Amino acid sequence: MSKNRVLSGVQPTGNLHLGNYLGAIRNFVKLQKDYECFYMLADLHSITVFQDPKILRENILETAAVFIACGLDPKKNIIFCQSSVSGHAELAWIFNCVSRMGWLNRMTQFKEKAGSNKEKASVGLFAYPNLMAADILLYKASHVPVGEDQKQHLELCRDIALKFNNDFNKKDFFALPEPIIIKEVARIMSLKDGTKKMSKSEESDSSRINLTDDENLIEQKIKKAKTDSGMLPDNLNDLEKRPEAKNLLSIYSIFKKISLQQSIQEFSGKNFSDLKDKLSDILIKEITPIGKKIKEIKKDRSKLKDILMDGKERANQVARQTIKEVHEIIGLTL
Ligand code: TYM
Repeated sequence: MSKNRVLSGVQPTGNLHLGNYLGAIRNFVKLQKDYECFYMLADLHSITVFQDPKILRENILETAAVFIACGLDPKKNIIFCQSSVSGHAELAWIFNCVSRMGWLNRMTQFKEKAGSNKEKASVGLFAYPNLMAADILLYKASHVPVGEDQKQHLELCRDIALKFNNDFNKKDFFALPEPIIIKEVARIMSLKDGTKKMSKSEESDSSRINLTDDENLIEQKIKKAKTDSGMLPDNLNDLEKRPEAKNLLSIYSIFKKISLQQSIQEFSGKNFSDLKDKLSDILIKEITPIGKKIKEIKKDRSKLKDILMDGKERANQVARQTIKEVHEIIGLTL
């Protein structure tokens, strides 16, 4: 394992939002200073549910533009498409044979995404965590920055690494990667329901702040965000019982770089409208410049393709080596 290597990924399914930014991409940017980082557009993950090919192509380029607009340096980091490095699919197949049905059956994200009709879900959606383990272990990454919804998949990745090492009697071949989950931003909630996470797949666009939303949209969405009927509370215990208030105050605290306790003090006894006004101002200040950059960067498609091509080559060098070692260990080389 490389002690200071980071790998993480984002599915290029469009509508990248505040949760993706705070829970993941903003941390990617921080980590680039001290780690060797592999940041991947998880396009193979995205096709576990049907994607229109034309839209997928656009979303891949847009997600690359988001990475760069948020501050990832394509020279310093390896930014690439998962599908362009064949080692991901190869190692995922091997992990399909290591991982257990019982382990995958416990994955809550599969249950949520498959909904009531599991029989109709793709096999890929079920096996998705094995592919995610392959993404991480292909580069022997030591750290994986993610939001809380990916924690269970990270645990499965560690189980697969351990079982592989045990099955083939190679004690430390795959070291166990550590998740980096930052508590305050681990789960940004929907603006329409403070008990559900903000999500790309939620039908209502007003449930999330997208990184490409302009000033008016941000203002409208915050204005319409769900609230309850009380004044804002003066202590954390009361706040815990009011998910919408907690979510809005948490987002405000993060951007203001103050503690939740300080935000509670600032708004205690006030109306939601006071918080909403200030929250919209700060979101407009922080998010709209990113949106403008995304639009600008997206215009130069050939530059984005060059970045992904360069990332593919650099990622492949590491990936080929791991695949070679794995083939030797499991007896596929003669
Ligand atoms: P994806 O594309 O759903 O989300 C990308 C990242 O954003 C985080 N995130 C959130 N964080 C806080 N609050 C939210 N409401 C919120 N919504 C999303 C996610 O936790 C994630 O970190 N399976 C992954 C992609 C992936 C991956 C990997 C990640 C594929 N291979 C290997 C790490 C390592 C996914 O679907 O993320």
